[in-house]
Amino acid sequence: MPVAHAPSRTLALLAVAGIGAYSLQRYFSRTALAESPQEPPVYFGGGGMNLTSLRLYSVQIVNHNTKRLLFELPDKDARCGLSLTSALLTITRPKGRWLPVIRPYTPINDFREPGFIELMVKKYPNGKASSHLHSLEPGQSVTFAGTIKGFPWSPNKFSHVYLLAGGAGITPIYQLIQGVLNNPEEKTKMTLIFGVNTEQDLVLRDELDDFKKRFPDRFNVVYTVSDPSKTADGSSSPSNPSYKQGRITESLLKEVMKGPDEKGIKIFVCGPPAMEASLTGYRNQGILGKLGYRKDHIHKF
Ligand SMILES: Cc1cc2nc3c(=O)[nH]c(=O)nc-3n(C[C@H](O)[C@H](O)[C@H](O)COP(=O)(O)OP(=O)(O)OC[C@H]3O[C@@H](n4cnc5c(N)ncnc54)[C@H](O)[C@@H]3O)c2cc1C
Ligand SMILES: NC(=O)c1ccc[n+]([C@@H]2O[C@H](COP(=O)([O-])OP(=O)(O)OC[C@H]3O[C@@H](n4cnc5c(N)ncnc54)[C@H](OP(=O)(O)O)[C@@H]3O)[C@@H](O)[C@H]2O)c1
Repeated sequence: MPVAHAPSRTLALLAVAGIGAYSLQRYFSRTALAESPQEPPVYFGGGGMNLTSLRLYSVQIVNHNTKRLLFELPDKDARCGLSLTSALLTITRPKGRWLPVIRPYTPINDFREPGFIELMVKKYPNGKASSHLHSLEPGQSVTFAGTIKGFPWSPNKFSHVYLLAGGAGITPIYQLIQGVLNNPEEKTKMTLIFGVNTEQDLVLRDELDDFKKRFPDRFNVVYTVSDPSKTADGSSSPSNPSYKQGRITESLLKEVMKGPDEKGIKIFVCGPPAMEASLTGYRNQGILGKLGYRKDHIHKF
């Protein structure tokens, strides 16, 4: 997909160039550790190129096409050092392919917890990187090539944040939600609208519902399912009251959002390119523009 792979060509070149610097960089990371033994290492904090091989510790099957992959950092006290909304570049060598495949994935774990990072990966039919990641067993490794920093998040800069997520586009949005709600200094309110194909694609639902229970005045989530006839257990449930039916539409946004005059708002959007185009515009103003939201209100991951 163009959105997902835009950085890939440049980064492929960087990756090749970076391999030469790899040994040197490993040497320097070890030196840094040796010089300050009491400080746990930080793996991806600096951004940019940083080749690190991480061992897969465990795999959790989420649904028909999604897995959660927990990777160990080389030191159990190490921190990933990522800032909110960052993604990590993976370099994989899928079976039968000569050239490595570089794709970004967004960790969903709490960055304050040391020792690991967790990815949630949706597998696409014939998807090169996603199929390879789904084929991995605990004990195997993946090379991470560095960080892509997302939006420069500052605590309490906005009073109300709207999050519009489609399918696997929930990962950077969930990363932001958990980072904000787990930070006791934060007061930001957040409203998530999460659109998926079928009920079984409502990944992270338990976690999101739990946040809603724990932060009823600061976090709300509205689920919307395009095809509710396909339920997780195969039963038919055409009118489930716990979610809306259909895509994220103008009428749903009108129902959930207070309007462009609301003070201190920001809108984050992440999903398939067609969904992002319908919401934020592509040669047109998109639904948000039509509702009066300005370009500077909106950030697309
Ligand atoms: C910053 C960033 C962070 C990301 N984080 C995550 C994440 O945390 N979890 C996650 O699962 N994904 C994430 N992605 C998407 C991920 O990087 C890959 O694009 C995705 O896994 C597909 O790669 P692939 O090599 O498996 O598919 P490819 O080999 O590139 O594509 C194979 C086939 O699948 C189709 N295909 C590929 N992507 C899609 C799609 N989105 N919808 C429909 N068909 C598609 C292609 O058209 C093609 O037919 C992120 C993307 C970006 C840009
Ligand atoms: N930049 C980042 O940080 C980042 C991180 C993670 C993922 N991503 C990207 O997020 C995307 C996730 O894709 P996915 O395969 O998981 O999506 P998907 O499951 O196919 O679709 C998710 C939702 O988007 C809806 N949708 C599709 N086309 C639409 C349109 N034209 N208008 C309105 N809604 C529309 C779908 O509705 P229907 O069911 O009716 O089709 C569904 O509700 C990928 O492109 C991935 O690269 C980006």
